Amino acid sequence: MSTPDRAAPPPPGHPSSGHADAAARGAHRAAGPAPIPAWARSPLRRPASALVVLLACLAPCTARAADGIPDSPRLGRPATAADIAAWNLSIYPDGTGLPEGDGTAAQGKELFAQRCAACHGQEGIGGTADELAGGTSPLDSEHPDKNIGMYWPYATTLFDFIRRAMPMDKPESLSNDEIYALTAYLLHRNGIIGEGETMDARTLPQVKMPNRHGFIWIDAKGQPQPHASP
Ligand code: HEC
Repeated sequence: MSTPDRAAPPPPGHPSSGHADAAARGAHRAAGPAPIPAWARSPLRRPASALVVLLACLAPCTARAADGIPDSPRLGRPATAADIAAWNLSIYPDGTGLPEGDGTAAQGKELFAQRCAACHGQEGIGGTADELAGGTSPLDSEHPDKNIGMYWPYATTLFDFIRRAMPMDKPESLSNDEIYALTAYLLHRNGIIGEGETMDARTLPQVKMPNRHGFIWIDAKGQPQPHASP
C-alpha cells in the first residue's frame, strides 16, 4: 500500500484514538448527566406537558357546549342595513345604482381645486397623480393617453370611482351632490358636456363617451366579438 498512514490506527494516547474517546466519555459520566438542550426542554417536546396544554385549550370549549351556547367561533356580528349600504356602492354602466342628487361643472370647479388639485394638478393636469383631462395622444399611438376623455367607455364609472376611492386621502367623504358636481366638472374638462349641464341619475347615463365603442368583447373561447351593446 502506498499510503499506510491512512489505514493505520492512531498511536495510543493520540487525541483521536479510541482510548482517548473512551476516557472523555468516562469524564462526562463522572461529572453527571449531559445538559439538556433548550429545544428539548420545551413543554411540547414532553408528552405529558403537551397533554396538559391540550386539555387546557379544550376545557373552555367543552364547557361552553355543555352550557348550551352554540359551538361556533362566534366572531363578528350580523351586518346591519347601514353596513351593507356603505359597501354596496356599485354603479352599472347603464346608471343602475346611481343615487339621488345632482351637480354641474360650475359647482364642481371650486371643489376640485380644494379637494383634488393637490394630487391631480390645477384643472386635472400636471399633478403627481393621473391626469384627468387634456389627453392628446390617440389610443393607437405608441404612448396613448388613457385618461377619462380618451379611454373611459362609460360616464357612470366616473361617479362610481370618485365615490368609492377619491379623494385618496379621505375616500367616501363626499356627498352625492358633490360627486355629481365633480363628475360634471371632469366631463366638462374633457370637452364632453357643457359647463352648465346638470348631471344626475337620469342625465349621467345618457352621456356618450368618445371611446364608447372602442372596446372589443372577448368571448369564452377567446374570439373577439363586435361590440354588441348600444
Ligand atoms: C392624495 C392624492 C389624491 C387626491 C387628493 C385625489 N386623488 Fe384622485 N387619484 C390619486 C391617485 C394616486 C390615483 C391613481 C389611483 C389608481 O390608479 O389606483 C387617482 C385616480 C383618480 C381617478 C382615476 C383616473 C384614471 O384615469 O384612472 C379619478 C377619476 C380621480 N382620481 C378623481 C379624483 C377626484 C375627483 C378627487 C377630488 C375629490 C381626487 N381624485 C383626489 C390621488 C389623489
